[in-house]
Amino acid sequence: MDSFEFNKVFMAILGTVFIVMSLSFISDGLFHNKVPEQQGYAVEVAEASTGEAEEDSGPAFEPISALLASADVAEGEKIFKKCASCHTNVEGGANKVGPALWGIVERPIASADGFSYSGALKGYAEGKTWTYEELNGFLWKPKAFVKGTSMGFGGIKKVDDRAAIVAYLRSLAGTPAPLPQ
Ligand code: HEC
Repeated sequence: MDSFEFNKVFMAILGTVFIVMSLSFISDGLFHNKVPEQQGYAVEVAEASTGEAEEDSGPAFEPISALLASADVAEGEKIFKKCASCHTNVEGGANKVGPALWGIVERPIASADGFSYSGALKGYAEGKTWTYEELNGFLWKPKAFVKGTSMGFGGIKKVDDRAAIVAYLRSLAGTPAPLPQ
């Protein structure tokens, strides 16, 4: 085979390859169907909004930190009457239906000696302490804030009342914890 023959054969092969490739390229373009990521028809179902779902979406209660310095401790003491059936408020006070609350501010959550806490509150605790805002959330709606808590108390809706009761709880200590800056 002289070089001229060789070139002819080589060009023929090259040409064939080129044609085959173009054809497959064109047919790909013409017939390529995208495979849908999801098989079948997507049916959009609007989720009915339930009260519970709204409760789940983040905190719906106002913070109290800024209100504490001027909160009404005497009013908090009155509100404590609602708690007194289950909680003591004196130094060395016993646990009742609920744990003793002396020194509750900045105390580790679920740590009163000899009190049998719910698994829910123990699970929630995880090394956390009762900061002012933790108390705020818990007293806003105990069962929404700590799902499964055994504290049978509905909660305190008004932010001023929550600031007052937490300011009162702060006073239940030899040396009350510092107010938030
Ligand atoms: C019907 C009884 C009852 C009433 C009323 C009640 N509590 Fe409780 N409280 C409990 C029980 C029971 C627990 C323990 C909850 C658990 O283990 O999940 C608890 C837990 C707590 C804790 C967490 C204590 C800790 O050691 O971690 C705080 C704080 C608290 N209550 C504050 C209050 C305040 C303030 C009020 C009033 C506004 C109140 N509770 C009203 C029964 C009650």
